[in-house]
Amino acid sequence: MIRNPIIAANWKMNMTPTETEKFFSVFLKELPTSNLRDVVIAPPFVSLAKAADMLMQADSVKLSAQNMSQEASGAFTGEISAAMLLDLGCRYVILGHSERRSLYGEDDVVINKKVHAALAAGLIPILCIGESLEQRDGGQLESVLSTQLEGSLANVSTDAAKGIIIAYEPVWAIGTGRTASPEQAQETQAYVRSVLSRLYGAAASEVIRIQYGGSVKPGNAAELISQPDIDGFLVGGASLDPVSFAEIVRAGCC
Ligand code: 13P
Repeated sequence: MIRNPIIAANWKMNMTPTETEKFFSVFLKELPTSNLRDVVIAPPFVSLAKAADMLMQADSVKLSAQNMSQEASGAFTGEISAAMLLDLGCRYVILGHSERRSLYGEDDVVINKKVHAALAAGLIPILCIGESLEQRDGGQLESVLSTQLEGSLANVSTDAAKGIIIAYEPVWAIGTGRTASPEQAQETQAYVRSVLSRLYGAAASEVIRIQYGGSVKPGNAAELISQPDIDGFLVGGASLDPVSFAEIVRAGCC
């Protein structure tokens, strides 16, 4: 089974519209023309329109939001709906990032509602899961990941699940410079795929792309992506630099 790698940038709360314009003026020149991978950039909400403008001539790069409301519209001050994101040109939306879970109290019930709202609107969820160091050291790795997957994907059909991207991001590797070793990431992602197989069957689980996220850099990307169950990356810090991110896109590719 060949799964086309998907390399995504999560800019988090970085990059003004002006900085976004500067990023793309460099990144689009660095991007390989024979790029075979799916490339996705998730700017903050306020920079999506500028990113969409800059990508008019580069339809190989797709836009993602970093979060969205589970509600369709109405009196939800400060929230952003799936329809708004689609109208801005987004194809993807990151849901359940560990920072949303730990800093903003999002649990699997809320994330599941967001997954359904995104799918209903036609956005592709990039669903993040991952364990803390305490949970890993305490022997809870598998139960944490399977609980997150079961909860976030509750009542999602097999057909819909096949299109979802899963991002495995060990919390202890996010922004710490401490990457999971290729073997650790592979072993965990094979486990994630086994849970997907239990939920949706082996054939569907072979189609679903699973990204790795957590201190991915140009220097470790090629080795990580050579692992059979690592189908791409969700990159934080290193995606803010257009040259580094282009290098990660190129790693082991083309
Ligand atoms: P870093 O690449 O900065 O570790 O962040 C990973 C991440 O959280 C991407 O969503």
